[in-house]
Amino acid sequence: MPDQTGWNRLVRSSVALVLASVSAFIPRYSSAHPLQAEPVNHPLVIGFERFYAGSDDETYLSEGGFLLLEELNCVSCHQPPPDLASRLSALPATRLDGVASRLSPIEIELFVRNPRFVKRDTTMPSLFAGPDRDLHEVAALSAWLKTLTADIPHRPVGDIQLGRALFHRIGCVACHAPEVGYRPPELPEEVAIEPVALPNVPVDLADYYDLDTLTDFILRPTEYRPSSRMPDFGLSEQDAIHLAAYLRSGPDLVLPQNLTEALSHDAPPADQSLIEEGKQLFFRKNCHTCHEPPRGLSSPVVSVAIPALTALNPDSETGCFSARPIGGLVPFYGLVPAQKQAISAALRHLDTLRALDAPAEMDHLMKRLNCYACHERGGSGGPEFAREAYFGYKEDPVGATTLPAHLPPSLDGVGARLDEKTLAEFLFGPTPVPSSRPHLVVPMPHYTRPVAGQFLKFFPAVDRASAP
Ligand code: HEC
Ligand code: HEC
Ligand code: HEC
Ligand code: HEC
Repeated sequence: MPDQTGWNRLVRSSVALVLASVSAFIPRYSSAHPLQAEPVNHPLVIGFERFYAGSDDETYLSEGGFLLLEELNCVSCHQPPPDLASRLSALPATRLDGVASRLSPIEIELFVRNPRFVKRDTTMPSLFAGPDRDLHEVAALSAWLKTLTADIPHRPVGDIQLGRALFHRIGCVACHAPEVGYRPPELPEEVAIEPVALPNVPVDLADYYDLDTLTDFILRPTEYRPSSRMPDFGLSEQDAIHLAAYLRSGPDLVLPQNLTEALSHDAPPADQSLIEEGKQLFFRKNCHTCHEPPRGLSSPVVSVAIPALTALNPDSETGCFSARPIGGLVPFYGLVPAQKQAISAALRHLDTLRALDAPAEMDHLMKRLNCYACHERGGSGGPEFAREAYFGYKEDPVGATTLPAHLPPSLDGVGARLDEKTLAEFLFGPTPVPSSRPHLVVPMPHYTRPVAGQFLKFFPAVDRASAP
């Protein structure tokens, strides 16, 4: 995995250069937030990075390819055959409602033009990076997106140091990078802090979102992003306020000035016909294949002539496999060779997917949703050793488990242990299950039913079949 120090700053400063040259955009910070420690320069799918990126076994790699076909939403345009439709499901992208209340007009324009300008590791491909890009179309889409505002409650500004402590205590570091050099104060002296090695989910957009939206997002992440990749921790408003202050602070851990007026909503109103054109383009450019149409936009009957999944040539060097953006309707992902190799293997081995049994399907879903960031099951996954320091605990851990007692429990045999109702409460909330582990600080975060509902079927099916 890429773990080069200095690389981040390099990438970010070159992004900043591109941004500056594109639009005289002035980056909000001259250098990054302390958490922006580990950049990648390709669409980041965390389960792929952890479990597949290093492999060159074609059959094993094809499983990683299935993950990419779903997480990169290839299957939302390239239709899978009917018998695989339930096994290859697309990822519902960020809701665009209210986008103008969290990104500034210039950031919206940059995101549409090439999302990688704003978020280097994003899984959203660019539809306008190619040489034949139509900047008028970018302007029309942006003009329309800029009208999508929302009423976000204005909340007090939180305490950066409290947010910092929370971030390193309640489970955020299972997926996101810890701040280099930070030591949780309650950690026993003999516990050493070591650098983490597994890939991290970057938090780039925290730099861009306005403080109130960032707070609101942390409180209700799955409403903004129905993918549930960022699960809902059921935080109190106070905790969310502190976390947002920490995440929104600059490299010196101070909040930028004028934070509360960060977004100017008083831009001159765009021409109505341009806005109308943007609405049409949302469908014509296939944005709707990944994004649910924002409220008030009804979906016209659109027929898109895109080759089906089984018609794709695994060895293609063109279309979405092209090394350079093509433009028009062909999205540009900037895939790295390992990702391309895995997707090609998946396209060649669609039959393997047909043959997956329930345990394998469940393992696949746990990789997709990154449950393995917190849980070990069947010898797979679990928090990496260097991250264990960031799972806070209360005094006097009770109940011996096979893992250090402050970590989330192993999921071995859980489907035989818990009934369906309890399982559903753990997975979807909203009422917290009375905890049998009062020494834990990290909660079980909540997912959405459309995304994680299959666990209700898988856990009992797999564990009761194998129970003695
Ligand atoms: C927004 C819709 C969309 C998404 C999402 C999408 N594609 Fe495509 N893809 C297209 C279009 C349009 C073409 C061009 C088809 C043509 O030229 O007839 C294409 C072409 C291709 C081709 C070349 C066709 C061939 O067989 O030579 C491949 C390979 C491909 N896509 C793979 C992928 C993969 C892999 C992903 C996910 C990483 C993906 N696509 C995501 C729309 C999409
Ligand atoms: C199970 C893994 C996981 C855990 C645990 C987790 N996150 Fe996330 N988080 C993600 C993923 C994945 C994304 C990116 C989602 C996407 O691409 O839409 C994300 C995105 C974010 C973002 C938006 C940044 C961006 O660039 O898109 C913020 C802010 C954030 N997380 C904060 C937190 C906080 C605060 C906590 C702890 C309360 C936390 N996360 C715990 C997985 C996690
Ligand atoms: C292949 C799927 C896909 C297609 C096609 C797609 N998007 Fe996205 N889009 C995403 C994903 C995934 C995200 C979340 C990215 C992230 O946070 O890294 C996103 C995020 C965004 C955001 C940022 C929202 C926010 O609040 O963070 C905007 C704006 C956006 N898309 C606009 C568009 C427009 C306009 C189009 C059509 C030109 C489009 N998208 C096409 C997948 C897609
Ligand atoms: C941020 C870490 C974290 C992530 C990510 C996470 N969990 Fe959990 N999970 C926990 C914690 C902590 C508990 C224990 C909660 C308690 O007992 O109060 C738990 C409990 C559970 C339980 C009940 C176990 C038992 O023996 O009581 C199940 C089932 C479960 N999680 C499934 C999942 C699945 C499936 C995913 C992925 C979709 C997932 N978890 C993601 C932290 C996490």
